[in-house]
Amino acid sequence: MYAFKIKGGYPLNGEVDIHGAKNAILPIMVASLLTKEPVHLTNISYLSDVLTLSDLLKSMGMKVKIDKNALTLQADDISSIHADYEFVSKMRASFWVLGPLLARFKKAEVSLPGGCAIGTRPVDLYLNALTEMGAKIKVKNGYVCATGPLHGAEIFFPKVSVGATHNTVMAAVLTKGTTVIHNPALEPEVIDLLNVLVKMGAKISGIGSKILTIEGVDQLHGTTHDVVPDRIEATTFAVAAAITKGKLFLKGARADLMSAVTDVLRISNVQLTQTAEGLLVDAQKASLKATSITTCEYPGFPTDAQAPLSSLLTLAHGDTLIEERIFENRFMHVPELQRMGAQIKVLTTNSILISGVNSLSGAPVMAADLRGGVALVLAALAAKGETQVSHIYHIDRGYYQLEKKLTNVGAHIERIKIDE
Ligand code: EPZ
Repeated sequence: MYAFKIKGGYPLNGEVDIHGAKNAILPIMVASLLTKEPVHLTNISYLSDVLTLSDLLKSMGMKVKIDKNALTLQADDISSIHADYEFVSKMRASFWVLGPLLARFKKAEVSLPGGCAIGTRPVDLYLNALTEMGAKIKVKNGYVCATGPLHGAEIFFPKVSVGATHNTVMAAVLTKGTTVIHNPALEPEVIDLLNVLVKMGAKISGIGSKILTIEGVDQLHGTTHDVVPDRIEATTFAVAAAITKGKLFLKGARADLMSAVTDVLRISNVQLTQTAEGLLVDAQKASLKATSITTCEYPGFPTDAQAPLSSLLTLAHGDTLIEERIFENRFMHVPELQRMGAQIKVLTTNSILISGVNSLSGAPVMAADLRGGVALVLAALAAKGETQVSHIYHIDRGYYQLEKKLTNVGAHIERIKIDE
């Protein structure tokens, strides 16, 4: 097992490359199942989630070629409509192959993803939508066994779901007739998928609105696409600059995708300047101020940014109330931050009160999920003394060579082998 060993107290300075969004690369890789032609993606980083999903797709017959920051996928010889528990249990976005398999092959056998550390993660919205579209669905031995054909339908999502939106859209684009989707997710990664599908020949109107109308087509063609920059990776490095009172240029980052986060940073007098090449984050004169955060669907404050900002606000003047409205269990970083000297009160299962302290102290801590784990790294960058973050495989899912990127801008962090 590996851990990060971090010595805190060094202001970060320099330039960090922000790559394509993990949560856009994954659905677009799945969308490659919808055509026999190659789909070529650039601005990729080799996150373990990307590698896990390519293993699943290869197990179904997808051709996958990974070279420098680019990914080419071709589904011209799909030999299986089975998505095994081995892959889906490791990376729940694998479940999204259900929609495209059903639309293109009229059959699918996909393992239920199960829950994860941050919540039970049900898939009722996915299955209800496909049932509305005519799918015959049986759940047997932990697998969703579904058969088509599908037909156009009017879908009303009672709750906003990124994954259910991806899955339903990817089913509808190759399904004869008209499918109208009410209350789709509006996250930038969803918009990126919709834009890729249109480039592949899909007929989608209402992109960016709360009503999507999709006219099914007989087939889709390949395309090339530069993936939208990762707003959560950008948030993470912006917090790294703010928590160390440093100055980082986030190459490729777009402030317009993360306005709820930049609003919070600006309250703490972090200077943010957008240029054509990226986002300059200057926190050299920052004075961290408490504020309240409630996570909600885009364009509200993103749930994936909650843990990273929690770390920053443990050092802010005043009290911060944080309400987590998307997932049931997204405060697993809290007890670990408390070990580092943070003053945090758990008010209810989905709300905490952070009272700012002058400093944090290094301690051995453990990552329990991706964003909670990176929040501990951020806290360690500012803490006095040495911190060891274990279970960093969670972090590798969404950050490629995090320690290298941080070292390049002045952090004292190394990846060490530990027995566990
Ligand atoms: C996506 O997860 C992201 N993952 C998550 O990022 C992100 O936190 C989440 O969207 C919210 O923005 C990927 O894109 C790979 P949801 P997803 O369906 O699609 C409930 C990260 O750190 N729900 O929008 O699974 C669900 O339980 C990850 O990069 C149902 O009740 O999230 C949750 O409470 C973590 N029934 C809420 O909706 C359903 O059928 C939002 O979930 C589906 C979801």
